Amino acid sequence: TTFETILVETRGRVGLITLNRPGQLNALNDQLIAELNQALDVFEADEGIGAIVVTGSEKAFAAGADIKEMQAKTYMEAYKGDFIASWDRISRARKPVIAAVAGFALGGGCELAMSCDLILAADTAKFGQPEIKLGIMPGAGGTQRLIRAVGKSKAMELCLTGRLMDAEEAERAGLVARIVPAAELLDDALKTAETIASMSLTAAMMTKDCVNRAHETTLAEGIRYERRTFHAMFATHDQKEGMAAFTEKRRPRFRNA
Ligand code: HXC
Repeated sequence: TTFETILVETRGRVGLITLNRPGQLNALNDQLIAELNQALDVFEADEGIGAIVVTGSEKAFAAGADIKEMQAKTYMEAYKGDFIASWDRISRARKPVIAAVAGFALGGGCELAMSCDLILAADTAKFGQPEIKLGIMPGAGGTQRLIRAVGKSKAMELCLTGRLMDAEEAERAGLVARIVPAAELLDDALKTAETIASMSLTAAMMTKDCVNRAHETTLAEGIRYERRTFHAMFATHDQKEGMAAFTEKRRPRFRNA
């Protein structure tokens, strides 16, 4: 498949997707989201892929939804076309997805990063939900995911003023897992993804499913869900192999089964 708005590569067991609309700071238009979803479908179906990295350019992960594409939309077009529904695909990925963010991650760009399982930030990263300045508000999960990541006051301030937050503040607030020097961002993200991909994919999929469940349910239900999933792991080859390898002081050979 050839794509026009993203670059897609395989690096070992890692699928790499690079958002690529350099003239528009990777503004997210319908075509880009459709291509991103297609690439995710391919990587998810590929037995050889154990983790996925989504990144942008040095200057921008993504500067938001494409304002010029949205500008003339009517309510009926937004409603009938179920505008934004297709943005959900990435949050439904079953394999782990890392967002590697350098430069601007604004509006829909910040929301896309938050839809991934974890965010690695370059020291140049800037996060924000500046939609209010356009007379709108976040529409791809920003009002819901940001508060869960950084708490109410900071989420409210960012959404109501449009202020941007730098990488330091984002890390302090818990939005990003780690900050790395910009020049090392991609290598670090690929290395982190490769580490994840070297584990049992079955275990990684079940783990991310359980961690993500925490945002969708009560603590008691989440604990029950975790426990049932944990029990299920004893039916896997990889649990037997992982524990045998530990006992025999050797490296495990996971089969993702
Ligand atoms: C369309 C965009 C864009 C966007 C940048 N561009 N962001 N086009 N949609 N979101 C385009 C510019 O129009 C310009 O094109 C080119 O990219 C370079 O941008 P500049 O503004 O010249 O760059 P700079 O001066 O460095 O400023 C960078 C910036 C600024 C601060 C990030 O571009 C900016 O404020 N962008 C918009 C950020 C934003 O409001 N995002 C939220 C969007 S709403 P030309 O042709 O002029 O060279 C949203 C809603 C999500 O995301 C809801 C769910 C979908």
